[in-house]
Amino acid sequence: MEIKSLDLRNRKLVMQAAEIFVKRFGAGSFYNDPWDVESVVKNVFAENNKKKDGKLFVAIKDGQVIAVAGSHAFGAFMHEWGHKHLPEEHRTKFKPFGKIYYLDFIAVHPDHENQGIGRKLAEARHEYGKRLGYDSVALRTIHPAREKLARSMGYKMLFEHSGSGRVASSTITQRKYFARRL
Ligand SMILES: CC(C)(COP(=O)(O)OP(=O)(O)OC[C@H]1O[C@@H](n2cnc3c(N)ncnc32)[C@H](O)[C@@H]1OP(=O)(O)O)[C@@H](O)C(=O)NCCC(=O)NCCS
Repeated sequence: MEIKSLDLRNRKLVMQAAEIFVKRFGAGSFYNDPWDVESVVKNVFAENNKKKDGKLFVAIKDGQVIAVAGSHAFGAFMHEWGHKHLPEEHRTKFKPFGKIYYLDFIAVHPDHENQGIGRKLAEARHEYGKRLGYDSVALRTIHPAREKLARSMGYKMLFEHSGSGRVASSTITQRKYFARRL
């Protein structure tokens, strides 16, 4: 298994990665959001890479993508979402973390779960953020496995917040926000 950055021009790998995203976030998944492969490529992958320091990583086994993750500057997240939805008292909790790199989404193919791939993709994004000069990393989640992984990697929960967002599923309410220094 190898972790590498995903070039959006590599259509074959991009489509495989998008299929995993749909499987984990689409209809019938834990999130049950109405994703299809084309909308993931356009609205998730391409958008991620337009953001400051946006980067996509994939895990590849036997030439096949088995997981995908995206990250970018925390500022991009705050501008798009935080300023609109998070109250000031929560936003200030990120202040002590300095320049933050944001671990956005991660999706591991269900056949390859619990094999440490989520951890490796987090480590790749930590290393990338560190190389770019970031002080800390942050993420948010409602998923128990991601929360467990974040805590085991030294992240501390800053606050929980339920509120509106772009997520379509009405089941998603309470999100937990985490950060740690790099
Ligand atoms: C969250 C996710 C990325 C984890 O990937 P993974 O490759 O299985 O992660 P790892 O194997 O590195 O670690 C998973 C940890 O969570 C634990 N775990 C797995 N399922 C769990 C569950 N339902 N509840 C609690 N913990 C769970 C594992 O035991 C493991 O902990 P350990 O290292 O102490 O044994 C994967 O489950 C996933 O793709 N989920 C769907 C998409 C998603 O929710 N993404 C996160 C939000 S953007």
